[in-house]
Amino acid sequence: MNAPLIDPFARAISYLRVSVTDRCDFRCVYCMSENMTFLPKKDLLTLEELDRLCSAFVRLGVKKLRITGGEPLVRRDILTFFRAMGRHLDSGALDELTLTTNGSQLEKYATDLYAAGVRRINVSLDTLDEAKFARITRWGKLPQVLRGIDAAQAAGLRVKINTVALQGFNEDELFTLTDWCASRDMDLTFIEVMPMGDIGNEDRIGQYWSLKDLRARLAQRGTLTDLPDRTGGPARYVRVDATGQKIGFITPLSHNFCESCNRVRITCTGEIYTCLGQEGHSDLRAPLRGSEADHDLETAIRAAIALKPKGHDFDYSRQKVDGQVSRHMSHTGG
Ligand code: GTP
Ligand code: 5AD
Ligand code: SF4
Repeated sequence: MNAPLIDPFARAISYLRVSVTDRCDFRCVYCMSENMTFLPKKDLLTLEELDRLCSAFVRLGVKKLRITGGEPLVRRDILTFFRAMGRHLDSGALDELTLTTNGSQLEKYATDLYAAGVRRINVSLDTLDEAKFARITRWGKLPQVLRGIDAAQAAGLRVKINTVALQGFNEDELFTLTDWCASRDMDLTFIEVMPMGDIGNEDRIGQYWSLKDLRARLAQRGTLTDLPDRTGGPARYVRVDATGQKIGFITPLSHNFCESCNRVRITCTGEIYTCLGQEGHSDLRAPLRGSEADHDLETAIRAAIALKPKGHDFDYSRQKVDGQVSRHMSHTGG
């Protein structure tokens, strides 16, 4: 029963991303519409259920656990859950416990996250301009996030910044953002905007800025060398030769990295999505709630992984959005 999780394309599943809430205190324009309807709280898995579910995955070979949302740190009592997962680090079953956050609550939580065993976090930040930050996140406040990042570094957490590359929005900040990250010894990864969820009147083709172009602009300033480094995530890295800085690129649109995909996602209601860019999913909440023993749950996890697709179909070529998925990124946590 404890055989590792291998999908039909011989990819071993060692990375679990768990969304603990669909709510967020921001409304980033490429992610959400301004008027979002969130799930009723009773539909969410309890923290105890999340613990059982994640622990089952750890037993089945998951080594890296990333907590996402929505914004994971707006879930009530979330530290209890981080502390509970910390026991899998202590036992050696889990290699890494981490989170992806918008940074708004880090000032409050950074020290406790470190104490729970978190060592590395990803913070989403698309601009260093206060007015632009307010525009892109609709509800966010840049100084609060910057204080959060300060607190995280002071607590000893390694910070990686995730920046969504947006045409006509942060093109002019390419070097500012890059140099800011270098000066603070933070890694930086750029992400191409993906066609996920209804975002109201915003236009995705208008937002899309190919990382091929972004990389070419970086290369004009100095030589870049491809690096073999892998974190188990989808980013590919380069080194800026002049400074040694490492920069990541997540390019689902212009380059497909699905062949080495090692991850699955759980939503806050206990659905498992085996691909970020496909609609296919299965329910794990019923087997979780149906029996106190984990046998049915493990059977359901294996059945879901047996259906993991080969990859996504995102495509903006021919000025048309293809491979669009209807759910928002906040549903499955990116
Ligand atoms: P590290 O490499 O450990 O830093 O993590 P990561 O890059 O897997 O995690 P992060 O949460 O920083 O992911 C950044 C973004 O990459 C996500 O929010 C998604 O936008 C994108 N991403 C992550 N996994 C996938 C994937 O399987 N497919 C696609 N298309 N995009 C992904
Ligand atoms: N395309 C690409 N990245 C997105 N994110 C949210 N929505 C999208 C999208 N449609 C990013 C956030 C954050 C991560 C969790 O996902 O900026 O970095
Ligand atoms: Fe919230 Fe992240 Fe979506 Fe922005 S991208 S609205 S911070 S979940």
